[in-house]
Amino acid sequence: MLLLFRVFCVNGCRSERRHPLLAGESPIPELELNDLVNRLVATDDPEEVRHLYKIWAETYDHDLDDFGYVAPAVGVSIFKQLNIPDDARIHDAGCGTGQVGSLLASAGFGNLHGSDFSDDMLAVAGGRRCYQSLVQADYTKPLEFSSNSVDGIISIGVYTKRFKNNFLKEMLRMLNPGGWMVFSCRPLYFDEVADSLKSLHKAGAILKSSIVYDDYMLGQGAAAYYISLCKSSV
Ligand SMILES: C[S@@+](CC[C@H](N)C(=O)[O-])C[C@H]1O[C@@H](n2cnc3c(N)ncnc32)[C@H](O)[C@@H]1O
Repeated sequence: MLLLFRVFCVNGCRSERRHPLLAGESPIPELELNDLVNRLVATDDPEEVRHLYKIWAETYDHDLDDFGYVAPAVGVSIFKQLNIPDDARIHDAGCGTGQVGSLLASAGFGNLHGSDFSDDMLAVAGGRRCYQSLVQADYTKPLEFSSNSVDGIISIGVYTKRFKNNFLKEMLRMLNPGGWMVFSCRPLYFDEVADSLKSLHKAGAILKSSIVYDDYMLGQGAAAYYISLCKSSV
């Protein structure tokens, strides 16, 4: 997910806007929004990830609106085309503040569940009142969710190198046979995702998959891969 933010550096379009929550008693003095994002991309330290999202949670939606973050809308539009029934149990993996859940609810999905690493992001998502359940989870580790327990998974702006092979493996385990997952992946991580997809196809874990390259962050001219995959029934 965080890869998408790398464009801020790559393009050299640094905003000098100081993050409102960082202006006063910030635990990271003098930190600007782009610094926060760059640190999220670079870090391997889960405690730093937790800390940075704690700082960001309250203004995340507003900030990403400013940046033209369209990934949730693109992802949900792809998800809708899969003809998954409205009452299907859907898991929003890395739900953050709940932008994806909100769009899914507007599209008619009523059995929504979410998970995320950050309790602070989850608290904002809870305020949207579109999820039946929200739980804390760490996709770098084995998850406590039951196997074959959800009909669909969506994960937008979340995939990062920190997940290694664990994320897709665990998501496929949770998914019911014949269930669909849609997730976004920034170009920087695409080779590693493509390798994983190839292995999963070869192992018979995935029945079919498709990949779309579409807008991600309009303000930065950034695009991403949106991958749809269907879990095999065997
Ligand atoms: C850029 S946000 C995307 C949130 C939401 N899907 C959206 O599109 O607005 C990335 C989310 O991934 C979550 N995340 C980061 N590392 C994680 C991990 N190891 N396990 C689970 N979630 C993680 C963060 O807490 C954050 O809410």
